[in-house]
Amino acid sequence: MGFSFGFTEEDLDSEEVGITSHNNKQDAIQSFTNPIDSAKVVTPPQLYTSKQLSQKLINTRISFESVKLANGSTLYRRELFDVKHQLMAEDEQTIGNETTTQPQQKGQEFDILIGDTDEDLRQGVYEGGLKSWECSFDLIDKLDCGTVQTFSNQQQSFDLIELGCGTALPSLYIFNKLIESLSQQNGNGNGNGNGNGNGNGNSGRRVNIVLTDYNYEVLRLVTLPNVLINWCLHALTAQQLVQLQGRYTTVEEEETTTAKQRKDFSNVRPGEIDITTELIDAFNTWLDQNGITLSFVSGSWCRDFMNLVQPLLNTTSDSLRLVLTSETIYSVDISPVISEILLELVRPETSGANVDAVALLAAKDIYFGVGGSISEFLSYLNKRNDQVAQSGDSGFSWEVEKVQNSHLKRSIVTLKRA
Ligand SMILES: C[S@@+](CC[C@H](N)C(=O)[O-])C[C@H]1O[C@@H](n2cnc3c(N)ncnc32)[C@H](O)[C@@H]1O
Repeated sequence: MGFSFGFTEEDLDSEEVGITSHNNKQDAIQSFTNPIDSAKVVTPPQLYTSKQLSQKLINTRISFESVKLANGSTLYRRELFDVKHQLMAEDEQTIGNETTTQPQQKGQEFDILIGDTDEDLRQGVYEGGLKSWECSFDLIDKLDCGTVQTFSNQQQSFDLIELGCGTALPSLYIFNKLIESLSQQNGNGNGNGNGNGNGNGNSGRRVNIVLTDYNYEVLRLVTLPNVLINWCLHALTAQQLVQLQGRYTTVEEEETTTAKQRKDFSNVRPGEIDITTELIDAFNTWLDQNGITLSFVSGSWCRDFMNLVQPLLNTTSDSLRLVLTSETIYSVDISPVISEILLELVRPETSGANVDAVALLAAKDIYFGVGGSISEFLSYLNKRNDQVAQSGDSGFSWEVEKVQNSHLKRSIVTLKRA
């Protein structure tokens, strides 16, 4: 860029070279348009608190399956057929009530979600969050090698952000470890000491869990239900779980004419959770009492998305931040946007915070047919690190690990500030 002035270095004395390199820095800063700021916003981002989103689950019954991990531990996940069942039931209700949506207006997203189109994803409409993709398991294996202990056992405040989470298995893995460590701190088997599912493991630390997915439908139908199922099965005793599912019925007293409210448990079935108001209240109270804030963000990755996420995070220097993302760099258009989001989150000083941050990205080496790839992602990081270095910043560093025994080559990238 200095060469645009028409000089060679030999033409300049050292002072002038100094001026040229300063101009280079300025040019490097000025010529960069952050992809986050220029990203196309197809679906405007929206923030939901755990309380807001969980209200929508009350009076649904969810079926779940167990997912056995390579290390022998178990996660729980909502069954896909059950998601489709809920969507169909809601659709019938809507038509029955003649309220809002007519069948022809239901839209492409609904058709894909109920499986009518047999598609794994359609860019800009549904980005694939209903199923758990291969690399999310790689991410869990990676977490298992030490990272998870740092984040779940310590007393430090921490942020856990999963970008494009879908079923959120990696975050669930950490969440379950967190429940386990809270149980140990509280000195009882299930993360809480009383029959209401309420714990008291908060030692003053703040834990912010932010789960994001392009599709709001994925967050409400899969992501939050998965967190709730894992909480029910890891934080509650079997007896507490039964109690919280009990539904009040009115029983007529034989001798008197008064009616009494009694709890009925005939709705409680293995492999399912009947979601009552009491269960949701106990869940949100448990989060509060343990200093955990659970938030959800839907919509396109863009500046407004970052403006919603950043205020949810810790800013103090003694806190940790873990950013996770799996199978999210498949689109060549979106890959620079997610790359910049990762960089902003691992270089928190750019937003005035001073936390110790690391990001883990798991992806296939090549996404055939759509163009995204690990090499594309790494070359973007290289380019940006050079630019950042020119502006006098220490930049960031990364490590790439190849996933072994994989027929489709996959990698995990660990990204930190330098
Ligand atoms: C293939 S799914 C992967 C889901 C999950 N991480 C897994 O590995 O099972 C890709 C995810 O990327 C996210 N995503 C893709 N493009 C996006 C965009 N433009 N804005 C926001 N999120 C996007 C979606 O949320 C979607 O769930």
